[in-house]
Amino acid sequence: MAVRTSQSLLIIIISAGILTLAGCLPPRDHAQLPTVSPDMATWAATQWSDTSAAQLSHGRETMENHCTACHSMPSPLHETVKDWPDVMQDMADHAKLGNVDQQAMLRYILAARNFLPGSG
Ligand code: HEC
Repeated sequence: MAVRTSQSLLIIIISAGILTLAGCLPPRDHAQLPTVSPDMATWAATQWSDTSAAQLSHGRETMENHCTACHSMPSPLHETVKDWPDVMQDMADHAKLGNVDQQAMLRYILAARNFLPGSG
């Protein structure tokens, strides 16, 4: 019995270690997503010529409605600028959202990220 317990414990510790190393633990950020500001919209337009404040707001709203079903709201700083596109694609699939929503969420999160302290 004692042996079984310590074996299970070891398996749990190893699994947790693998998840941590893989960097794929679900977010526990409980982030408040910033509302879309004129500065954010102006910045976004320099990145993507066909974007608009409305698209960014749609991205924010879609995240509010869909991204806390399985875990807490991730901070825009949870991922790097380089990693967000792949993560957002995976998560849009998880949330059963299409390309229009995915693009809006990605643009919103990158714009929001750019205006947060510590965005580097
Ligand atoms: C159906 C459940 C589900 C929904 C809905 C969901 N997620 Fe996740 N999310 C997960 C799971 C499970 C993980 C951890 C494992 C993984 O990466 O698949 C995760 C991990 C993450 C991570 C960390 C990924 C990493 O590897 O660093 C981020 C960031 C994230 N989710 C953002 C989002 C966003 C943004 C949305 C809304 C578009 C969302 N999630 C919707 C289940 C979900």
